[in-house]
Amino acid sequence: RQYNIGYFVGSLATKSINRTLSKALIKLAPENLSFTEIPIKDLPLYSYDYDEDFPAVGKELKSAIEASDGLLFISPEYNRSIPGALKNAIDWASRPWGTNSFAGKPSGLVGASMGAIGTAVMQSSMRSVLSFLDSPQLNSPEVYLAFNQEDFDVEGNVLNKSTSDFLKHYMGEYAGFVARVLDANAEGHI
Ligand code: FNR
Repeated sequence: RQYNIGYFVGSLATKSINRTLSKALIKLAPENLSFTEIPIKDLPLYSYDYDEDFPAVGKELKSAIEASDGLLFISPEYNRSIPGALKNAIDWASRPWGTNSFAGKPSGLVGASMGAIGTAVMQSSMRSVLSFLDSPQLNSPEVYLAFNQEDFDVEGNVLNKSTSDFLKHYMGEYAGFVARVLDANAEGHI
């Protein structure tokens, strides 16, 4: 069957390498996945003062997540952690209390950085957050990409075969994972 994947790009930068990576992953994904970006840039900074009268931008975020069969986070590491804009969006969607939009949603986590550890520390911290929010995550394979500009064009075509094969393999495994979690959810195992 066809699955709708909602994806988050954790960078607001116009030349974001993670946005380029998101384009590459979409091109390399199996055909039974369709992708919709879940935007984060127009969210105000969250506070629970908003809970009583949740603004439209927050409701749209929550319904976009809830309408997705699976979620994919493509994010940089900023100061060894989750970029503030992405963490803010996650805080919004986890609230108001009792309406956490991430519960049971299968998630994939990838990232690119200019440094050699390829967002490993950010991903580790994201895993704590997503686990707390009850979102099952694809554990393996992992994508810690030390970004080489020469391997990608701006449309997200991957020019290096081993990188392309690696990212394609990830997306195939991710599609299988989403299907397994949804089947388990439907059977009441999760
Ligand atoms: C960075 N960068 C960075 N890289 C890294 O590997 N680990 C880190 O902790 C950080 N910290 C960091 C903080 C801030 C505020 C910025 C702006 C940058 C460098 C980062 O990998 C590089 O800027 C990438 O281009 C970020 O990805 P996007 O935003 O282009 O997708």
